Amino acid sequence: MSKIDWKQIQEWDLKYNVHAFTTAEEYGTTFIERTEGNYLIQPDGTRLLDFYNQLFCVNAGQNVPEVQEGIKEALDRYGCLWDIYTTDYKAEVSKMLIEDVLGKSGWAAKVRYALGGGDAVETALLIARLFTGKSLIATREHGYHGVSAGAAQLTRMVPSRSFASYADKKPSLVPGSIFQNTFVCPTAFCYRCGLSHTYPACKRVRADGVLPCVAQTEELIVSHNLQSVAAIITEPAHGAGTIMPPPEYLPQIEEMKNRLGILWIVDEVLMGFGRLGEWFGYQAVSNRPVKPDMITIAKGLTSSALPLGAVVVNKEIADFMDSMRWNHVSTFAGHPLPLAAAKYNLKYMMEHGIVEAAKKIGEYFGAQLQNLAEKHKTIGLVAGAGMFWQVEIVKDKETKEPFVPEDRFTTFTGSAGNWPIKLISKYAGEKNVLVGGFVPNTLRMGGACNTTREEADIVINALDYAFTNMEKDLLG
Ligand SMILES: Cc1ncc(COP(=O)(O)O)c(C=O)c1O
Repeated sequence: MSKIDWKQIQEWDLKYNVHAFTTAEEYGTTFIERTEGNYLIQPDGTRLLDFYNQLFCVNAGQNVPEVQEGIKEALDRYGCLWDIYTTDYKAEVSKMLIEDVLGKSGWAAKVRYALGGGDAVETALLIARLFTGKSLIATREHGYHGVSAGAAQLTRMVPSRSFASYADKKPSLVPGSIFQNTFVCPTAFCYRCGLSHTYPACKRVRADGVLPCVAQTEELIVSHNLQSVAAIITEPAHGAGTIMPPPEYLPQIEEMKNRLGILWIVDEVLMGFGRLGEWFGYQAVSNRPVKPDMITIAKGLTSSALPLGAVVVNKEIADFMDSMRWNHVSTFAGHPLPLAAAKYNLKYMMEHGIVEAAKKIGEYFGAQLQNLAEKHKTIGLVAGAGMFWQVEIVKDKETKEPFVPEDRFTTFTGSAGNWPIKLISKYAGEKNVLVGGFVPNTLRMGGACNTTREEADIVINALDYAFTNMEKDLLG
């Protein structure tokens, strides 16, 4: 590789790239020269331990040699092929998903590929509407499903919902970007219940044991007229919104969707492929086996060596799709290279027990986080599994008072410099550990599924340092 002139790169970056999250004035270039395992490596050799896992997508770690070799093999064989052609990669990845990964699920039948997570959600919405002949999709508060037109309608993270925010003026919403053929239901956020209930006492509120958040969801769906409602979409646990549900929640959503006769799409884009210590998030967070009608997947499908998404559908939907001519194509969905990445990634994950590794390291990391919570007065809640952890940062454990009152409803207006997560990520950064999140009072964390104990310890030490300093800054 020829020597890179990073000064020149910075000049071009500032001059020619449109950047997200900051104004041009606030923006600062972060150079990364290469990646390796759980690390991002900078031109001066600094190794950043990535406990953000590039938005939780590099499940088997960066630069897995077996996956890279597999991509090179495909590159030697193929340029581009569009969807009507079949490669061994496409057929084999689908077989692996349906037989090897989901064989015991009792529901999964066929796969349809997409470009990434948002595109998989768009595809699932189209399928749900075609199959049912109905238009409305129920989504949930704090949900995140992507930023493309249809997925953004389902996304309830305020700043991700087509907002432009400014330091010194009101945010502006992209015209037409809100609520077309969707409506919002509550979620199960037990630490700050939107319905003012307390878990587990809320299990006894109704004689039938239905959680109030599920009962309210059912009422809202019915009130939108069952003749019009195609599906409900849920993440297994909120990724961007960063919330773990109680174990009864998804099984009760399944019972509800069966009662109402609507479809249930589980968006596994972030939680799929070991993130929570099972192949899929819905398996990890439920207290009994459940059967969605469709799942959307991306990120961990290739461990993000190359971009790829997909929708897995049940037998009834697969039969329906097989019965028609569906004029639906995206040039690159089914491209041989990402499918080769998926094949070799799934093979690697199965052969090296990557899902089990996530479960194991999650138990260790969770226990260390709980210890940290005892030491730090600002850690109000630790929740999670595998390599996805939620830490609620509070002024006071008893009252749960948040530092930023708008919390998950912030519009990212004004100065965010002293938000708890900004301070934590700044101080952890001083120890070369990357952590953060979109929610001002909530950290979300997790490395690759095969994170080592040594790496977990480095993160815990960095968090200890970061919490100590944040507490000094904010509480004196
Ligand atoms: C649950 C969920 N769905 C969909 C998406 C969108 O995926 P992508 O960014 O690949 O479009 C994401 C992205 O993080 C996600 O977490």
